[in-house]
Amino acid sequence: MKTAKQLQIELDGKPISLYTLFNKNGMSVDITNYGGKIISLFVPDKNGKFDDVVLGFDTLEEVIEKDFYFGAICGRFANRIKDGKFNIDGVEYSLAINNGTNSLHGGLHGFNEKVWEVKSASEKELVLSLLSPDGDEGYPGNLNIITTYTLTDENEIKIHYEATTDKATIVGLTNHSYFNLKGVGNGTVCDHQLQLNADFYTVLDESFAPSGEIRPVENTAFDFRIATVISERVDHEAFVPGWGMDNNWCIQKNQAGDLALVGYVYEPVSGRKMEVLTTQPGVQVYTGNYIDKVIGKKGKIYDRQDAICLETQGFPNSPNVPHFPSSLLRPEGKYDEWCVYKFSVE
Ligand code: BGC
Repeated sequence: MKTAKQLQIELDGKPISLYTLFNKNGMSVDITNYGGKIISLFVPDKNGKFDDVVLGFDTLEEVIEKDFYFGAICGRFANRIKDGKFNIDGVEYSLAINNGTNSLHGGLHGFNEKVWEVKSASEKELVLSLLSPDGDEGYPGNLNIITTYTLTDENEIKIHYEATTDKATIVGLTNHSYFNLKGVGNGTVCDHQLQLNADFYTVLDESFAPSGEIRPVENTAFDFRIATVISERVDHEAFVPGWGMDNNWCIQKNQAGDLALVGYVYEPVSGRKMEVLTTQPGVQVYTGNYIDKVIGKKGKIYDRQDAICLETQGFPNSPNVPHFPSSLLRPEGKYDEWCVYKFSVE
């Protein structure tokens, strides 16, 4: 069995380390308290061979310097807020614009760039906390966040997000891991199959923020209710041909708060399958469209479509679309959401 890595550096006087969780099947996951990032994840294939299935970097210095949200916790609000503006109880709030005309993933210095405090660390569980102060990146309210990572003996990574505020605010947290089930650095994910339990998707406007329209997937390129090889769709004009998929699907569920099966990604040669479950209403499927020859682990090159992200989250731009599931958190409430990545072989 591996032992927890002793790597440690400091940023602004705060310690940044790498924590390793193990399970009885030999799976392991390395997570750093910088951005709460999953750095590597070793998963068996159908012959019992372990490979690292997430994009990342070899050193903590590179993790800080290069970012790309690889494996990070995105917040205070994951994905886009149109024009970086929203309104709560008649007060308009403005965020930094960091993506075209919109605010993306919490702004210029989102939760992916924060040094999270380590509340506890064991071989099974890592508990991180963060205080995002009132006015942080323009968001109102002191927000206290706890993110708990658990690696189970059922080969699941469970991510539990809990947050409370002292003033009405908006919250939307996600994990931004980039998966390649053939193993990191082994080329495209276009040969992976994707299945999504989603009858609807949110339509994007010209700025790539959801316009508010929700459309059925029926008879469109967005219909992944039956598992489909990604290469069959990725260049469809419904997405961005030559770049890939970067859209939010509405997850089928019986009741808010239920842990619903979002769908899965399957890679036939390794036999690895990753199911995704969440309590959140949406999933952003992103094929690493803006990754352009990034030098990654062991000098391997990461390119566009070499990974797939299934970012479970609230619907992007929901603070500006009243009929989307609400992302509003008030002092009397609690943000309490789960995302589970479950690995198996077939
Ligand atoms: C967004 C992409 C963005 C990427 C950044 C995704 O969640 O939808 O548009 O480029 O994150 O890593």
